[in-house]
This record gives sequence, structure tokens and C-alpha cells, in this order.
Amino acid sequence: MLFGDELLERPRREVAPGAYWVPGWLTPDQQAWIVARFREWGAGPVPPRGAVVNGHEMSVKTVCLGWHWRPYQYTREAVDVNGNRVLDFPDWMVRLGRKALAEVGPVAGKEAGWEEAEYTPDTALVNYYDAEARMGMHQDRDEVSRAPVVSLSIGDTCRFRFGNTENRGRPYQDIDLASGDLFVFGGASRLAYHGIPKVYPGTAPPGCGLEKGRINITMRVTGLSDGPARGGRP
Ligand code: SIN
Ligand code: MN
Repeated sequence: MLFGDELLERPRREVAPGAYWVPGWLTPDQQAWIVARFREWGAGPVPPRGAVVNGHEMSVKTVCLGWHWRPYQYTREAVDVNGNRVLDFPDWMVRLGRKALAEVGPVAGKEAGWEEAEYTPDTALVNYYDAEARMGMHQDRDEVSRAPVVSLSIGDTCRFRFGNTENRGRPYQDIDLASGDLFVFGGASRLAYHGIPKVYPGTAPPGCGLEKGRINITMRVTGLSDGPARGGRP
């Protein structure tokens, strides 16, 4: 490498204890490849949908892999959409999740008590944001496991608000997540409130595979297993 991170415009940094931001982690080719997979998932057994939270349909459209998320639980079938089982969690995404942890692991992993080799995400929420879409401040707490969440962003830049673990308000930090950025939150930040107050339309870089809008993938470890009814051991 010609230069280290310190000379880059957007250096990687620890945003809060256990929360790491690595700008430009995915190459444009990798981003475009993932966008092609995104189109396949969207045409899959369960179409993207805005989850209904407290009677309101979310502006963000979500398609899930591995386990289907709805407020506030995971099931194998998308019972609030069409009842179909969601696509399996892809092996390549497990490897990508481990690679992401390895990227931040030398600092994050040991102190937060996890090893990248053990990290086996089994669900991904794949969100699509159009120019108007927003996501309110929330915690990711429907997983039984408290293993880190690995987040990848492609397309338009957004404002990402990363807060505290107590409430939706201050203190929080606003950062701009751009196409290719990696964000990992685990350890002391695993239950931090976070949200997307704004998408910046027209900022998707050429070559990322998405002409407009933003895709965010969050990989998680549910900590759930299938019951005997789904073919588990008798
Ligand atoms: C989420 O909180 O589930 C998504 C965050 C993002 O879109 O970056
Ligand atoms: Mn979240």
C-alpha cells in the first residue's frame, strides 16, 4: 500500500467503544457484485416490503436472508408478507462477515470477547432506501445473541446517527456512510440506538451498481435454532 489510512480523506475510526467505521471497505467491483445479488434476492420467494411498526409502514423496504425479521421477532417464514420461507443465508456472506471482523478485530475483537473465526451470522436484513426513506432511532435487540452487527452500505450516501445505549436522544454522533463503507458495532456498543435521518440523493458513485437509492445490509447472529418441527433432531 502506498499510503496508510492517516492520509485518506475519511480515515477509519472507532466511533464509540466497540463501534468501528471503515470507509471505502468494499471495492466498486465488490459493490456492483453485491448489488447484482440484491436484485436476485428482490426477485426471490419473499418480495421486499416495508415492515409495519406500530401501525405505520416503514419507508425502508426490507428483504431478509436466513431468518425473516418482523417487529419484533425472527421466523424462517415471512408470515407478515406471503408466508414463504426466506432464502438461505449465503456462505459467501458468512465469509464476508468474518473478513469484516478481521478488519476491525485487532482492536475490537479481543476486548469485546469475540473471535472473527467463530463469527457465523445467520440473518441479514437488506434494506433499500429511496431518496425519501428514513429510519428512526432504534436498537437491534431482537437477536438472542449479542455478537456484533456487521453493516455494509452501497449507493447513495446517508447520514447515520449513532447514539447511546440508554435512549434515542443525545449524546449521539452523525457520520456520513458512503458506498462501500463498513460499520461494525459490538461489545459496549452492541445495543446502541441508531438510525438514518437522511439520504443524500444523487450521491451514488458510478460503478457501484446502483443508479439511485441506498442499500444497507446488516448481518447478525440470531442465536436461534430451528425447533424439531423443522427437521431438528428428534
Ligand atoms: C439498520 O439499522 O437496520 C440499518 C442501518 C443502516 O441503514 O445503515
Ligand atoms: Mn438497526
